[in-house]
Order: sequence, then C-alpha cells, then structure tokens
Amino acid sequence: MQTIDHAAAVRCETSSGAGSALLSFDESTFAECFSRRPFLIEHRLADHPLFEMERILELSRALPESCIEYNAGDLPLSIDLSRTPRNGLSVEETLRRIESCRSWMVLKYVEQNAAYRELLEECLSLVRLHSEPIVPGMSNAQAFVFVTSPGSVTPYHIDPEHNFLLQVRGSKTVRMLDGSDREILSDEELEGFYSDAGRNLEFDETHRKKGWKFLLAGGMGLHFPVTYPHWVQNGAEVSVSFSITFRTPDLDKRQALYRTNARLRRFGLKPAPPGRSAWRDELKFQGYRVVRRLLRK
Ligand SMILES: [Fe+2]
Repeated sequence: MQTIDHAAAVRCETSSGAGSALLSFDESTFAECFSRRPFLIEHRLADHPLFEMERILELSRALPESCIEYNAGDLPLSIDLSRTPRNGLSVEETLRRIESCRSWMVLKYVEQNAAYRELLEECLSLVRLHSEPIVPGMSNAQAFVFVTSPGSVTPYHIDPEHNFLLQVRGSKTVRMLDGSDREILSDEELEGFYSDAGRNLEFDETHRKKGWKFLLAGGMGLHFPVTYPHWVQNGAEVSVSFSITFRTPDLDKRQALYRTNARLRRFGLKPAPPGRSAWRDELKFQGYRVVRRLLRK
C-alpha cells in the first residue's frame, strides 16, 4: 500500500493566481492522474462561513428530508446499506451532538441552496479547465456536505461520479483501491452497482494492503476516480468535508453498458465487459437507448 501524506504528495503550484484560487493543484499531476489515479490537491475552504455549524444546521432545515442521510458511525467495513443502524436521533440533534453521538451524516445535493451552488460552481470552474481535455462534457454538478463524529467509519463502497473530497475541518484517513483492476472490483460487482444494488461492497481482506492510503487534514482535497473502491476512517475530532462531483457523457454510456450486461448475464450469457470492442459497445448502447425510449412511451 502506498501511504501518501501531505508533505510528500502535494506540490501545489497554484495554477491560477498564486494563493488566491479556492482550489490549487499541480497541473501536470492533474493531467496525468485525473480519472485514472487518486491525487491530492489543496483548497481554501477551512474558514468558509458555509461550513460553520450554525450554517450547516440552517442548510439541514432547508433541505428536503430525502436529501439527508445519517446513521450510527461505528460501522464495520462491509455492511449492506439497508442494514445500517440508525442513531435514534433527529437530524438537528445529530448535528448538535456530533462530537459525542458517534454518527455519520451527509447532506446531499446541497447545490439546491444558492450559496452552496455558487461555491460549487466556483470550485468546478477551476476543475473544468483541466478535466475537459481528458473527459469532456462536464454536467450534473452536485455537492455534498459530510459531518461525522470522531472515529466514524464510512464502509467500503464505490461512487458513480467524478469526485473531489475537500476536507474542511478535522481529519480523515482514506484508503482507496484501484478500480480498474478487475481482481479488486469485478464486472459482476459493477453490473450490480449500475443496476441499483447499492453503493456498498463486500470487502475482501486479501486486498487490505493494496492501493493507496491518504491522510487528509483540513485544507487538503483528494480526487476519487469513478468507481474506485474506498473506505474512510475519521480522525479524533469532528470532521466536516465538502464533496464536489460531476458527470460526463462517457459515464452515461458506461452505466448503460453495465446495465445491459447485467441483463444479459441474467439470461445465462457471459457478456464481454465494456472497452473490449468499440463496435459491440456501440451496438449495446444504441440498443439500450432504443429500449429505454420504447419503455418511456
Ligand atoms: Fe465515497
């Protein structure tokens, strides 16, 4: 396992206006690693008023209930999302007692709120300059605020979007595995994920020493390539982090291909994974779109 800490991994040569940009990263690292390998960046959100507890409470009251997910924070690495234990508290109680209530909370799609949307857009405008040449078509910008108790664990899982996790306060240890290695993340697991089987995966202990380990402190951020498996352990203080995500058209195609393959597998076939044959992928994708259109009528 590669352990990467701040001093060793971040050589931030601010790309736009030294010290003034909300995000800063090394341009050549971005070009080499984006969407292929995790890498560290820096940000200037540590003292941002949108992440003060009273402001987060206000946000929680304004968001629809369906956009707040929270549960007990003392979790094993592998757990089915539907079996995750509750903490027995309301959203407001959880936030007010976050230091001691051993809980994990995410406020989802906070771009619904104008102030958070503005911040998200400002951050992503810096990312876009460098991501477009690699994966064009940034869309579906979304943001999430995570508030977690000391020692909380985010179980082993994958996510569907391009993501930067910005650590605002407290610290986290993130362990990530190579999601392009099919011995670590199988095609069947990806088919299940894209067919709505949930984000959590069964952790295989034999992989524990593989991949990367990042120690994130306030002011640091980490890029998560799409569907690279990871789990997170909070440090000894309350943690607040801001996740900025987006999609690109290639991800919609990827989702369609894995969904199609899941269906083919249910019919007893052994479908070729995406990426093996461009013409076959295109045929499946067009077939998927036709079926979707017919089902919508
Ligand atoms: Fe995640």
